[in-house]
Amino acid sequence: MIFRQLFEPLSSTYSYLIGCEKTGQAILIDPVFPAWERDLSVINSLGLKLAYTLETHIHADHITSALRLKKEAGSRIAAPAVNRLACADIGIEEGKPLQAGSLILNPLFTPGHTNDHFAYLWDERVFTGDALLIDGCGRTDFQNGDAAALYRSIHEKLYKLPDDCIVYPGHDYSDRRISTIAQEKNRNPRVNEQTSLEEFVHTMQKLNLPFPKFIDYAVPGNRQCGVCPEHLPEQVKEYCERMTLSPQG
Ligand SMILES: [Fe+2]
Repeated sequence: MIFRQLFEPLSSTYSYLIGCEKTGQAILIDPVFPAWERDLSVINSLGLKLAYTLETHIHADHITSALRLKKEAGSRIAAPAVNRLACADIGIEEGKPLQAGSLILNPLFTPGHTNDHFAYLWDERVFTGDALLIDGCGRTDFQNGDAAALYRSIHEKLYKLPDDCIVYPGHDYSDRRISTIAQEKNRNPRVNEQTSLEEFVHTMQKLNLPFPKFIDYAVPGNRQCGVCPEHLPEQVKEYCERMTLSPQG
């Protein structure tokens, strides 16, 4: 098994690289634009060939590097079919595994954070995107978010996975890297096994989070699989600039 958890600090996003040892084919989940060179150098240093970039959903806080990596590495773009993206090569649906060499990822439709969201199950690991975070979950107040739908996605799909299934979140803002289904079921303060639907909906309604500052650029850019708009205002320019960071992220 070849596996790397890669961090992009501007949006606190985790991207996940998984590689097939036999064929060298790789899948990169949720790649972030400023980190594309770092990610490609990790892929190359491991002797891998990028078969697919794979999105959990249309992101509002960063631009994907899917299109850039397609140009640079020849990868194919896999994204939720429900988005009907003209730029995608593969439409993801639940029940249709994504395969590259011996890698098999099973998509789990987990709407609520957004209405297009998928988590991906890989053996005893689950990439939960922004549906389930460590001690938290994604917000539900834009992009057709729906707190009740997210509750059902978490309780009826993610919390039905085995207790020792490892949770790899799409973000973390406090340097935490992994969790397990059991840990989240037991202690997630926002949505644990004991939390009722009503409590959860109430919590989400009261969050009162600031509007994401990059959303108006990120969503249209991501609907084009990763196009950075020209003439970005100064305060959001760094979302489309190259990341300066150590190779391991
Ligand atoms: Fe998101």
